Amino acid sequence: MSASIIVFFNQSGGVGKTTLTQNIGYHLAQLKRKVLLVDLDPQSSLTTFMGLEPADLDKTVYHAIVHQQELRILSNIHGMDLAPSNIILSKAEMELAGAIMRELRLKQVLEKVQQEYDFILIDCPPSLGILSIMSLVAATHVLIPIQTEFKALKGTQMLLNTILEVLNLANRNLKIAGIVPTMYDGRTAQGEQSLKAINEQLSKIGTVFPTIQRATDFANASQNRKPLALYSPKHPAIKLLQKIAKKLDNLS
Ligand SMILES: Nc1ncnc2c1ncn2[C@@H]1O[C@H](COP(=O)(O)OP(=O)(O)O)[C@@H](O)[C@H]1O
Ligand SMILES: [Mg+2]
Repeated sequence: MSASIIVFFNQSGGVGKTTLTQNIGYHLAQLKRKVLLVDLDPQSSLTTFMGLEPADLDKTVYHAIVHQQELRILSNIHGMDLAPSNIILSKAEMELAGAIMRELRLKQVLEKVQQEYDFILIDCPPSLGILSIMSLVAATHVLIPIQTEFKALKGTQMLLNTILEVLNLANRNLKIAGIVPTMYDGRTAQGEQSLKAINEQLSKIGTVFPTIQRATDFANASQNRKPLALYSPKHPAIKLLQKIAKKLDNLS
């Protein structure tokens, strides 16, 4: 066993990266896969959504990346393992500024645990800084959540350029797992138009996965610190999340 390492990447915030990381991880675990979630965002939403209090954690992913200590892993939260983070991770960028080959730090950390998992899902910060670059370098696959809003398409070119640059410079093996349109609101013309544009423009670069609609239960579930399926087991979006998980389970 050697995990597929999937980074959930988009340089914009609020597009559903963290929510998807948690929920897709959950459904992969439901498929009996061994799943590790890695919170690489200093804002530590994923750590919070998983029910932890980031400020209370003494060891986090920061210690593994910056001080090369053993990766702190919390076991079996809703069937998944979690490498948590907290705000101290925001120091990493500055502290690693002079470090040689700093882009490799996460890859080195994950290599030590990759044999123990089927999937390692990395939740990125909303930026193009060193933490995002190190995630793309460590990953085998990138999954791109895109908000179905008009402005989202403008950022898409920049996003793709970054990914292509990393592919060329640092990780020629990185594969595009696909694009997940999120927060879709079918009642607005904007939603419909941008979904059409996403399908037209982005299907060239990768699979466009089922569209996740805008639904307040996603926010309610994360406020209750649970995957959607545990908060609202009959929610229609669950079937779509399951579909995405199944497709990821068949990645090559
Ligand atoms: N499909 C959705 N519909 C409605 N709200 C959502 C959806 N996905 C996520 N949210 C909410 O939107 C906010 C941002 O989502 P999050 O996953 O944290 O985005 P990111 O990690 O890209 O910043 C959170 O409050 C989350 O609960
Ligand atoms: Mg996030």
